[in-house]
Amino acid sequence: DRDEDYELRPPIVTVMGHVDHGKTTLLDVIRETKVTETEAGGITQHIGAYQVTVEGEKITFIDTPGHEAFTSMRARGAQITDIAILVVAADDGIMPQTVEAINHAQAAEIPMLVAINKIDKPNAQPEQVKQQMTEYGLVPEEWGGKTICVEISALQGENIDELLEMIILQAEIEEIMANPHRPAEGVVIEAELDKGRGPVATVLIKNGTLNVGDNVLAGSVCGRVRAMIDEHGQRIERAGPATPVEILGFSDVPAAGDFLQVLADEQRAREVAAERKEEQLEIRRKADTG
Ligand code: GTP
Ligand code: NA
Ligand code: MG
Repeated sequence: DRDEDYELRPPIVTVMGHVDHGKTTLLDVIRETKVTETEAGGITQHIGAYQVTVEGEKITFIDTPGHEAFTSMRARGAQITDIAILVVAADDGIMPQTVEAINHAQAAEIPMLVAINKIDKPNAQPEQVKQQMTEYGLVPEEWGGKTICVEISALQGENIDELLEMIILQAEIEEIMANPHRPAEGVVIEAELDKGRGPVATVLIKNGTLNVGDNVLAGSVCGRVRAMIDEHGQRIERAGPATPVEILGFSDVPAAGDFLQVLADEQRAREVAAERKEEQLEIRRKADTG
């Protein structure tokens, strides 16, 4: 793992915010305007992770749910992301899960851009949102602070290009590097048991390259990559940094948020998985007996 093997990789951008403030609508409009027809279909419809190309620059986006029940998913989202987009509805303002998202991003020391959404609504109050932001240490740039704010309407596709521009600028400042020549490291975004295909995990590769045939370990589940499907539904042999990919070949369903690593030794992967499973069972037994 030498310094000279590191190259710039696309930023991983996580969209966070309170329930119904328009995160998914924003990602939909970005996808509609930036993803070509041949790229339609595939896993992006259900995984909420995909890559777009804006003026030749790739960006990988991850959606997160705003419902209060999904705290752990937001915390994990903050861990894998390079840049957070905080979506705040201009008619609703900063709400509990907005605050939670701010806390996750600040704890993980991730740069945050604020998208003040729903400015098309007659009762939108973007200035009030900015005022609220200052109470959380987010002072808008136009008020002399450091936080970039873009007023958007995800529904009407307003100012989306400006937001994308800001993301690209921020990514340039961050200089996000990865080494595509090393074994893959990633995070499980979603996983399920598919009737026909068995355990299917959607993984975002953060560093390295994942190959068909690699022995993988994610949490307490191991396996060997039997096949990979990219976000366009195409089978691929390898997936490099910042690529979201579906993996077949896990022995069981890993948990969303589990870190994925590649182990050269299949036997070792099995042992570590078994040890972790035993630990989980032990924790559960202790919880049950009080
Ligand atoms: P969760 O995933 O449940 O947290 O919600 P979300 O943040 O993904 O919100 P979603 O995109 O599902 O949008 C919630 C509602 O707000 C939908 O009815 C959208 O049509 C609406 N909405 C989103 N963006 C805008 C906008 O810019 N303007 C207006 N008027 N409505 C919007
Ligand atoms: Na919603
Ligand atoms: Mg949503």
